Amino acid sequence: MTASRSMTSVCQADGIGTAHRDRIERVLTDCLTLPGGSTDRLIESMRYSTLAGGKRLRPVLVYVTGTALGASLEVLDAPAAAVELIHVYSLVHDDLPAMDNDDLRRGRPTCHRAYDEATAVLVGDALQALAFEVLVQEGPGAAPAAKRLAMAQILARAIGTSGMAGGQAIDLAAVGRKLGAAELEHMHRLKTGALIHASVMLGVVSADVTTTAAYQVLSNFGRELGLAFQIQDDILDVEGQTDQLGKRVGADAALEKPTYPSVFGLEEARRLALAARDRAIATLAPLGDQGEPLRQLAQFVVSRFS
Ligand code: IPE
Ligand code: IPE
Ligand code: MG
Ligand code: MG
Ligand code: MG
Repeated sequence: MTASRSMTSVCQADGIGTAHRDRIERVLTDCLTLPGGSTDRLIESMRYSTLAGGKRLRPVLVYVTGTALGASLEVLDAPAAAVELIHVYSLVHDDLPAMDNDDLRRGRPTCHRAYDEATAVLVGDALQALAFEVLVQEGPGAAPAAKRLAMAQILARAIGTSGMAGGQAIDLAAVGRKLGAAELEHMHRLKTGALIHASVMLGVVSADVTTTAAYQVLSNFGRELGLAFQIQDDILDVEGQTDQLGKRVGADAALEKPTYPSVFGLEEARRLALAARDRAIATLAPLGDQGEPLRQLAQFVVSRFS
């Protein structure tokens, strides 16, 4: 695959390519076709938050990593959907008044604004449960049981106390405080990096990667990519546009959150984002051309506007 062709198929300057995105929209829509009755409002609000745009970076990472290593799209559908369901749950809870108290997400009122706080709590709970249900369920395209178990473990570890939830706890405890460089990096690696790393590793596990060297390469790639992603998120909160981002800019400063721009200044934050991107790209060297779509995604993560 040439660099220019993969650029077209994986991501463009203004967003991630459409092929995997269209696929994940269909898969997520299927996942959220649930029996209703007394839970109609809950299901409607889960669909409101999940089927409302977003870059779909995490499922695209599952598809791109997995297909680069020879996995079929069918086997990647469940892990791709699971990471996005978890991500949406994290956004719904992150926006709650008890956390970041945001009123705009993906260009629309946040879940608790469109519905109510208690519903938004339950949306997060139910999306998390649905993610694991989708990930472990048997079916025609499903991975063998041992792989599904391994994937459930990867995902669970990425979102618990030593992953996303732990990182969010550090974030909340850090409000109004100064964090040192190491603490800030640790928080970002946990609250955001861990799920991005898990997205790469779910792609790896879905394929038949037998060498520990390839496994380690992609694990290191996922880690550095995750850090680069959250540094860029911090930068966009300062210099992005609300209409492009679909969320309010300036929210971090208003809440006195320690971020890369607030701790290091914008210029140094940009340099650190690019350095993390470069480390991510450097890890891919042993993969040769096979790593090209992942290189393109690493570029995208630090050059995106939304
Ligand atoms: C935003 O993630 C929340 C973070 C973890 C920084 P994204 O920027 O991927 O949000 P969507 O999915 O595109 O809306
Ligand atoms: C969110 O980080 C990390 C999550 C686990 C959702 P932010 O609080 O910076 O995400 P945004 O900027 O609200 O999307
Ligand atoms: Mg937050
Ligand atoms: Mg937030
Ligand atoms: Mg942010």
